[in-house]
Amino acid sequence: MDLENKVSLVTGAGQGIGEGIAKTLAKKGSKVIVVDLNHESSAKVAEEINDKFPNSAYSLQADLTKSDEIKHMLEFGVTKFSKIDCICNNAAASRGIGPVENYSLEDVQATIDLTFTCLWKCLQAEIKFLKQQAILASVVNISSNSAIKGYAFNSIYAASKAAVNNLTQSIAKEIARNDIRVNAVSPGTINTPGVREYFKAEPKAKEMLERSSLLRRIGEAEEVGELVAFLLSDRSSFITGQIISVDGGASIA
Ligand SMILES: NC(=O)c1ccc[n+]([C@@H]2O[C@H](COP(=O)([O-])OP(=O)(O)OC[C@H]3O[C@@H](n4cnc5c(N)ncnc54)[C@H](O)[C@@H]3O)[C@@H](O)[C@H]2O)c1
Repeated sequence: MDLENKVSLVTGAGQGIGEGIAKTLAKKGSKVIVVDLNHESSAKVAEEINDKFPNSAYSLQADLTKSDEIKHMLEFGVTKFSKIDCICNNAAASRGIGPVENYSLEDVQATIDLTFTCLWKCLQAEIKFLKQQAILASVVNISSNSAIKGYAFNSIYAASKAAVNNLTQSIAKEIARNDIRVNAVSPGTINTPGVREYFKAEPKAKEMLERSSLLRRIGEAEEVGELVAFLLSDRSSFITGQIISVDGGASIA
């Protein structure tokens, strides 16, 4: 199995794409630290993983906007599994939606904090930790196709994800000589609780988004998980600094 003897940490893994990633990594043989702001949901995901693959997962409640909780998250991983080889920075959230002229500065700041600054804080602590640990390591940041194409009425989120892409490339350059690879995965529309809620409120959006993908459907969280698992595994040993879409071809449609 691709991730046998690996220890992976996934942020925002209590639901949605992060849950799909955590479960896919476990299926590929990895031990998994399931981190989320929501303790109940991360505990449930870890329990479901352990039901299938005994002693493979631990859950941790953490608010990753807080530096001390990020530090604790890494210490927790090492305490439980004695090392961390693979990290997927998936957690993000946004505030406000609508035309750019209607955004409040408060919502802009909150979206940048939750989507970009939070990930930067994680990366800063993770890179320090991985350098000290001094073993082969791979990091995947979850971005969004909105960073590539722009996103009408969700512009600040899209701009924050564009910053995530650029940060991914810069850090990949800085860290390559330490045998640490850093890539970004850029999902199109994925079947998650948030997207399902959106489709309930805007039924026409579902058909429109399905049509915008070459494969004429939205994706599943585990399909994102498959790409993340590959990038975290040694099979992708010559890939770093890349931003790769998993979107049924929507980014070129
Ligand atoms: N759903 C999509 O279609 C889609 C498309 C492109 C990109 N993305 C990206 O994929 C990632 C996951 O998206 P999702 O739709 O599954 O989101 P989601 O809201 O369903 O899940 C995100 C999880 O992250 C957790 N989280 C948020 N902020 C946190 C924090 N500060 N500390 C710890 N945990 C935190 C939440 O509790 C939640 O469980 C995000 O980076 C998102 O921007 C999603």
